[in-house]
Amino acid sequence: MSKTISVTSQTAGNAFSYDIVITNGFRELSSLLEPVLESGRKAAIISDSNVFGIYGDEIKNLLAEKEIPCFSFVFPAGEESKNLDIVQDVYEFLIKNRFERRDVCIALGGGVVGDLTGFVAATYLRGIAFVQIPTSLLAQTDSSIGGKTGVDFRRFKNMVGAFHQPSLCFMNMNTLQTLDKRQFLSGLGEIIKAALIKDKAFYEWIKNNSEGIMSLKETVLEEMIYRACLIKREVVQNDPKEAGERALLNFGHTLGHAIERCAGFSLFHGECVVLGMIAALYISNQRGDISDAEYEDVYGLFERFGYTMKVTGLSKADITDTAKSDKKAEAGIVKFILLQDIGNAVIKKDVTQQEMEKALDIILE
Ligand SMILES: NC(=O)c1ccc[n+]([C@@H]2O[C@H](COP(=O)([O-])OP(=O)(O)OC[C@H]3O[C@@H](n4cnc5c(N)ncnc54)[C@H](O)[C@@H]3O)[C@@H](O)[C@H]2O)c1
Ligand SMILES: [Zn+2]
Repeated sequence: MSKTISVTSQTAGNAFSYDIVITNGFRELSSLLEPVLESGRKAAIISDSNVFGIYGDEIKNLLAEKEIPCFSFVFPAGEESKNLDIVQDVYEFLIKNRFERRDVCIALGGGVVGDLTGFVAATYLRGIAFVQIPTSLLAQTDSSIGGKTGVDFRRFKNMVGAFHQPSLCFMNMNTLQTLDKRQFLSGLGEIIKAALIKDKAFYEWIKNNSEGIMSLKETVLEEMIYRACLIKREVVQNDPKEAGERALLNFGHTLGHAIERCAGFSLFHGECVVLGMIAALYISNQRGDISDAEYEDVYGLFERFGYTMKVTGLSKADITDTAKSDKKAEAGIVKFILLQDIGNAVIKKDVTQQEMEKALDIILE
C-alpha cells in the first residue's frame, strides 16, 4: 500500500521536481534513495532525541544494507533546539566527517528536524541535497512539503531561513502510532485548515471519518495524508515563494500565532490555529459570508475532536497588539484570511479592532 505525489515547479530560476511517497513502513525507502544517493555518496541522518531512539536503527540498517556510509547527528527534541547553535553543531559534524557537496542529509523527525536539517542543507557548502522523512502528522502534511526551511533566532520564530526543496519526501504513516495524541491533534488542526480554505469535499470527508482518524485506521490515515498533501502541493506549486496564494495557508494564524505567543507557548501551535480559525470563522459569519449553520458545523467538528475551545487568562488587547506586530503584518495592518464559503478563502486587510475583539470573546474565558 502506497501513494505517490509529484511536486514540480517550472518557474525560471526555481525549477524543481520531487516525489512525496506515503506508505506503511520503511521498506521502499532504500530503493527510493538510490537515485539520490548514487554510489560513493555519504548520508547524514539528522534527528531528535525522541525520534532517533525509535526509528534511527531501522534507517541506519537500511543504509547499511545498501552499503551507503552513514553518520548520525541527534539533538534534544523540541522547538528550543531549532536555533543557530544547533545549526553550527551540525555544520561542524558535517565538516568533521568530510561531507562534500554531493553528499546528502536525511531529516528524520517532526517539523523541527525538517526545518533545521533543510536549512543546514540549504547553506552547507552553498547547498547540498536533503531527504525528508517526516514522522509527525504536521510534518507529513505540512512542513516537509514546499521547501521552506529555517530556524528561530533569539525570540523570533522562523526568522532565519531559506527556500530549499528536498530530493524526496518519504512518509511512513506507521510512525504516527508512536506520536503523542496531543501532537497528533495539533497536526490535524492544520489539515482541517487546509480543507476549510481549499476543499469542501475533503472537509466533509474529515467529518465522516472522524472516528477512523482518531483511531489511526490505516486506510483512513492514508487517504487523509494524501488529500492534505495534494492541497499543500497545489498551493506550493502555484506560489513557491509565498507571493500570493500561499498566504491563504495562514488561515487561523493571525490570531492563532498571537495567542500562541501570549500564552507563552503553553498551547501547541495547531491548538492555537484552531482557536484562530474559530475567531476567523466568527468574523466571516458576522460579515455575512459563512452561514450560522456552517459556523456551527465547523465549531462542532472541532469540539468532537476534543480541541481546547476556550483559553483563560489572556487579555484581548495583548492578543490584538501581538497580531499587529507580527512579522507578517505590513505597517501594523493585520492580514486576515477569511472564508467566503467552506473551501473558499480570501485575504482581507480591513478587519477592524472591534471585529477582532468580538471574535476573541468567543474563545477567551
Ligand atoms: N517549513 C514549513 O513550511 C513549516 C510549516 C509548518 C510548521 N513548521 C515548523 O514545524 C515545527 C513543528 O513541527 P512538529 O509539530 O512536527 O514539531 P516537532 O518536530 O517538535 O515534533 C513534535 C514532538 O513529537 C516528537 N515526535 C515526532 N515524531 C514522532 C513520532 N513518530 N513518534 C514519537 N514522537 C515523535 C518530537 O520529538 C517532538 O517532541 C515548528 O518549528 C514550525 O515552525 C514549518
Ligand atoms: Zn501553522
